[in-house]
Amino acid sequence: MKPTAPAPCVLVVFGASGDLTRRKIIPALFDLFQRGQTPRGLAVLGVSRTEMSDDDFRQHLREWAERFATRFTEDGWARFARTIYYCAADATEPEAFEQISSDIDRASAEQDSGSNILFYLSVAPQLYERIIECINQSGLVTEGKRWCSINRDAAPWQRIIVEKPFGVDLRSAQSLNRALGRAFEEESIYRIDHYLGKELVQNLLVLRFANTIFEPLWNRRYIRDVQITAAEKVGVESRGAFYDHAGALRDMIQSHLMQVLALVAMEPPGRYADTHIRREKIKVTDCIRVVTPDEAPLRCAFGQYGSGPGGPGAYREGKGVAPDSTTETFAAIRLDIDNWRWSGVPFFLRTGKAMARKLTEVVLTFREPPIDLFTPICEGEPECVRRPPNRLIINIQPDEGISLRFEGKVPGAMRIDSIKLDFDYLARFGGEPIEAYGPLLLDAMRGDQTLFKHRDEVEGAWSAVMPFLDPGLRRGIAGNYPPGSWGPRESEDLLARSGCAWHNPSDEETR
Ligand code: BG6
Repeated sequence: MKPTAPAPCVLVVFGASGDLTRRKIIPALFDLFQRGQTPRGLAVLGVSRTEMSDDDFRQHLREWAERFATRFTEDGWARFARTIYYCAADATEPEAFEQISSDIDRASAEQDSGSNILFYLSVAPQLYERIIECINQSGLVTEGKRWCSINRDAAPWQRIIVEKPFGVDLRSAQSLNRALGRAFEEESIYRIDHYLGKELVQNLLVLRFANTIFEPLWNRRYIRDVQITAAEKVGVESRGAFYDHAGALRDMIQSHLMQVLALVAMEPPGRYADTHIRREKIKVTDCIRVVTPDEAPLRCAFGQYGSGPGGPGAYREGKGVAPDSTTETFAAIRLDIDNWRWSGVPFFLRTGKAMARKLTEVVLTFREPPIDLFTPICEGEPECVRRPPNRLIINIQPDEGISLRFEGKVPGAMRIDSIKLDFDYLARFGGEPIEAYGPLLLDAMRGDQTLFKHRDEVEGAWSAVMPFLDPGLRRGIAGNYPPGSWGPRESEDLLARSGCAWHNPSDEETR
C-alpha cells in the first residue's frame, strides 16, 4: 500500500509549555515545514495552564526551535510561527473544553485546516486519563465508536497521540487503554515510541524482509543469542524527580527495547501495512515467557551508578533523587520467546545511564560450526583455537550501520582470523539525521499506524517485565557500578549463566 499524503488538521498539543513540546515536537515540525513536508492547512494549537497570548507562545518557542531544529532560518520561522496558536486552559476540567473548541475553530478557520483534529498528550502521565475523559465528554470526537460503521474516507477524523510512559505497570496500562478506548477507536490511537522513528530500527524490517540471505538463518537453529543494548553516557541529568519513580526497566526496556525486540523476533508480515506488521508484533510479544518470581532473580541484573572520575556524581546525590533510593539506573534482563522460531534462544536486553559510551545496538551471535575442522591443523597457533562465533551487529545509533563478522584464512600457512564486512549507513546514503518525532507526526496525520504501538503490544510488554519490577531484586544496588563502565558485575554473570558474553565495544570500535 502506497503511503497517502498527510492530511491537514489542527494539532492540539496538551502540555504546550512543557519540555517535550519545545525540545522535540516544535523543532521536529519546523524542520518538516522547512523541507516542505508538512501538509498545507496544518495548524498547531498549544494548550496549557500558563497565561500567554499566541505571540508570547510563538516567541517562547522560537528560541528552542533555533537551538534544536536543524534548518532554522528567520524567514522560515516567521512563516511557520503564523500557524501556531495558544489556548490557556486547564484541560483536566471539562469546562475548559468550551475555550479549547473555540480555539480549535479559530486556528482551523485561519489556516484552512478543515475538521480533522490530532490531539497530542504531552503532559504528566498522571493527567492522561482525566484529559482523555474530558475530550470524550467535550463532543469533539465525532468519528463514532465503531470505526467500521462510518465512511472513513469522507468523514473528518480525530486521532490522539499518547506519549510514554504508558502506565507504570500492567494494571495502570490496562486502565489507560480502557480510558482511551472509551473515547477513541483503536484505529485512532497512536501510542508513540520515538525508537520506532529511528532509521536503523525501521531498517530492521528491510534487512530481514527485503533480503533472502538473512531470513533462513534467523532462528534457533543458527542463532545462539540476541543482545539488545541501549547505553547512555549521561546520567539522569535534570530528570531525577521523574526518573526516581521510573527506573531503567520502565523508562527504556518496557518501551523502546521491547519494540526493538518485537521487530527482531516477529514473523514476516504478509504485507507492508500497519495491520499486518502490528499483528505479527503482537503475536511475538504474546510468546514472551512470563517468568515466575522464583526464576526472576536468575534472569536479571540491576545497578545504580556511584561516583567516579568523569561521571555525573553518584545517582543518589542527584537533584530530585531520594538519598536512599533503590531505583535502578542500569537494568539487564533475559527473556525467552516460546515459539518454534526462538525456543531456547536467550534474548538479553540491557540499558543504563552513565555507561562507557552512547550506544544502541542489536547483536545476533550465531552458533558455532557443528565440528571444528581447524584446531587440529593449526596446532600451536593460538589464534586458531576457540574462534569467535559469527556475529551480526545492527548499530542503531550513534554510528548507524550494520556489520557482519566471519572467519577467514590469513595468507601463508593455515591461520585463521576474523574479518568484518561493514556497512556505514550515513557514508552510503548520506542525508542529515532527522529527529524521529517528525516522521512519526506525519504518519499520524496520514493515518499510518505502522510505527505506533497497539494496545496488545503495550500490555504484552508489561506482562513480560512485571516479574522484574519486584523491589527485592534491587536490594543493595547503590553504587554497584562506576560511571563510564558497562554496568555491574552481575550483568556479566547474567550472560555467563547461559554461556554468553556481552558485546562491549572499545572506544575505537563503531560496530
Ligand atoms: C527516553 C527516556 O524515552 O529515551 C530517556 O525517557 C532516554 O531516559 C531517551 O534518555 C533515550 O533516547 P535516545 O533517542 O537518545 O536513545
